Amino acid sequence: MKYNVVIVGATGAVGRKMLSTLLERSFPIKNIILLASKKSEGKIISLNDQKYVVQSLEGFNFKNADLAFFSAGSEVSKKYATLAEKKGCYVIDNTSFFRLHKDIPLVIPEINSKELAKAKRKIIANPNCSTIQMLVALKPIHDLSKITEIIVSTYQSVSGAGQKAIEELNKQTLDIMNEKNIDIKYIPKQIAFNVVPQIDIFLANQFTKEEMKMVNETKKILHDSISVNATCVRVGTIIGHAESIFIKLETDQELKSLERKLDAAKGIKFSKSDYFTPVDCSGKNWVYVSRLRKDINKENAFNLWVVSDNLLKGAALNSVQIAESLVEQKII
Ligand code: A2P
Repeated sequence: MKYNVVIVGATGAVGRKMLSTLLERSFPIKNIILLASKKSEGKIISLNDQKYVVQSLEGFNFKNADLAFFSAGSEVSKKYATLAEKKGCYVIDNTSFFRLHKDIPLVIPEINSKELAKAKRKIIANPNCSTIQMLVALKPIHDLSKITEIIVSTYQSVSGAGQKAIEELNKQTLDIMNEKNIDIKYIPKQIAFNVVPQIDIFLANQFTKEEMKMVNETKKILHDSISVNATCVRVGTIIGHAESIFIKLETDQELKSLERKLDAAKGIKFSKSDYFTPVDCSGKNWVYVSRLRKDINKENAFNLWVVSDNLLKGAALNSVQIAESLVEQKII
């Protein structure tokens, strides 16, 4: 069985990774169509000596498409994902638009791919990049003893804000080195040589939307009564998000038991003796866990450091793994 596959947002930072990930993992593709905004119509994307011509999403008919990956922002998903679904096309949506909808599964295949078979809709939501890597790292520990509390601070790269934010960091860096004035547009404050404690907009409770995504998506995926407190920070790196995480467990556990679980877990590279940085994880499929240690003040509590490529496991790879699960479970 081979599928007609569509990528919406194919010219973007995540969209490009979707194409390369589908090809690298030999997803059974009959035909692939790359869509973006009208201004990108006719643009050529080259990969592995192949040239792909970008088409416009506007007016595209999803009738003959089997599966569409959306990564063109919430407004685009809001308008076009249900349209695609109505035409019988499965949608894997990388935006936040559907994530908390009751009837839409929010899936990290290592954790809850069983949700796919229960779903009545054809839209599946891909969680936020920071949530994915945190929960992949925490699920093996949660299986050992229920996690009751998480306190997380993130160090998120600019690629999470899209291709234009990468260009902004590069340009600001050059301008500062050349003693020129900088332009600030896609990240709220100067990001070159800086860290910015704002990702997405501020909400009424003084947390940002990104922080509340981590809170609410974790509740939907792990369990409702978990207490999550997040501080999300943009840092001047290009690829790879890092997270400093405190967890409290229901029962006391030996450090060794957690280490064994992480060593054996699918999708995780764990180190006891070394630590990982965003540069180490760029271009790789793993979630890297290191600096695991027992908390010095609290009972049943641990601290750890988690890094992963936000464009891969945080977005494109997780989406493609969802598609692979749909195929494996004979849903599609
Ligand atoms: P385009 O390049 O034509 O603007 P990123 O997250 O890296 O900024 O990428 C966003 C992606 O979403 C790009 O591929 C962009 O296409 C696409 N996009 C943005 N707005 C629309 C739209 N209204 N219709 C279709 N694609 C869109």
